[in-house]
Amino acid sequence: MSGKNVTEVVLADAKGIAKAAAILESGGLVAVPTETVYGLAARADSTDAVAKIYAAKGRPSFNPLIVHVRDEQQAAQYAQWSTPAEIAVMTVWPGPLTVVVPLRPDANLAPAVTAGVDTIAVRCPSHPVMRQLLDIVDFPLAAPSANRSGFISPTTAEHVLASLDGRIDLVLDGGPTKAGVESSIVAIRENGQWEELRPGPIDLDALHRHYFDEGLSKPAGTDGKGATIEAPGQLASHYAPGKPVRLNAEKVAPDEFLIGFGPIVSVDCMLSSSGNLQEAASNLYDCLHQGAASDKPSIAIAPIPDDGIGRAINDRLRRAAAPTD
Ligand code: TXA
Ligand code: MG
Repeated sequence: MSGKNVTEVVLADAKGIAKAAAILESGGLVAVPTETVYGLAARADSTDAVAKIYAAKGRPSFNPLIVHVRDEQQAAQYAQWSTPAEIAVMTVWPGPLTVVVPLRPDANLAPAVTAGVDTIAVRCPSHPVMRQLLDIVDFPLAAPSANRSGFISPTTAEHVLASLDGRIDLVLDGGPTKAGVESSIVAIRENGQWEELRPGPIDLDALHRHYFDEGLSKPAGTDGKGATIEAPGQLASHYAPGKPVRLNAEKVAPDEFLIGFGPIVSVDCMLSSSGNLQEAASNLYDCLHQGAASDKPSIAIAPIPDDGIGRAINDRLRRAAAPTD
């Protein structure tokens, strides 16, 4: 908890952003829009502030956070920056790509940010509100998605309040976010090799092909769905709406909330009637939030093609459908 039980919501204009900066400076928690989802930000150099993130989210302490920076120079203050890392971000930053690289021994960030691993996840976001905030403050921002741990990620200020009202200081309302699913995460290994840890808006296979004339090789010892041990947030159950979720539904039962894709009629929430995967990604979490809030006891989701950002959508849907134990 951040010591308060009132969460204020302000418009993300210059005044709101200045207020957010002051709260962050004094070690508080602010939900901030990014181009992917809303993040729950705290100053990454403060042990107390970072502890509040874990407490507000109920996040397991073994799950490290992404550090948001204003540019590569700032990234290099905390990460051992290298040519392979520079190449990976070159055409994408600022944007929805997170790179996992070795942590600098003199980084001086709160140890909980990296949860004891010797790497750090850094991302330079493109959303103008997050960028203005990072320009004003003189520290980087640790920011996981602004939801209770394991619950659906937020793409609007209302979604943030649905799970964190009373647990954080401020929400900067910048309207709905665009990309809709969290950043792609790539680990840059010592030999320069890339390993996909989480699919997202940036097609890592295509990006790798662009530079190296070949796609990404699948990490050894995994089924190709991601290195689950190293990205501990990538647990089987995540993004859970709190009721059963049925995937690849061709037909709907009367007690199911139907999330549609493509030319199907009478859906409860439509991802994209024209079959546009980017549009589907940006509507995904809102449809899951609506399904969670509906009277219907379970959710059914139409099949989504598994290419491009469709891979990220299916990754999130598999976790939303997995049993929570
Ligand atoms: O788009 C995004 O990335 C959003 C916005 C707010 O920036 N953030 C986000 O954070 O999705 P979060 O905490 O929900 O997911 C971060 C993921 C987790 O799966 C975590 O395990 C992984 O990043 N991660 C963080 N640091 C890591 C590290 N050093 N090595 C491997 N995985 C790491
Ligand atoms: Mg999350």
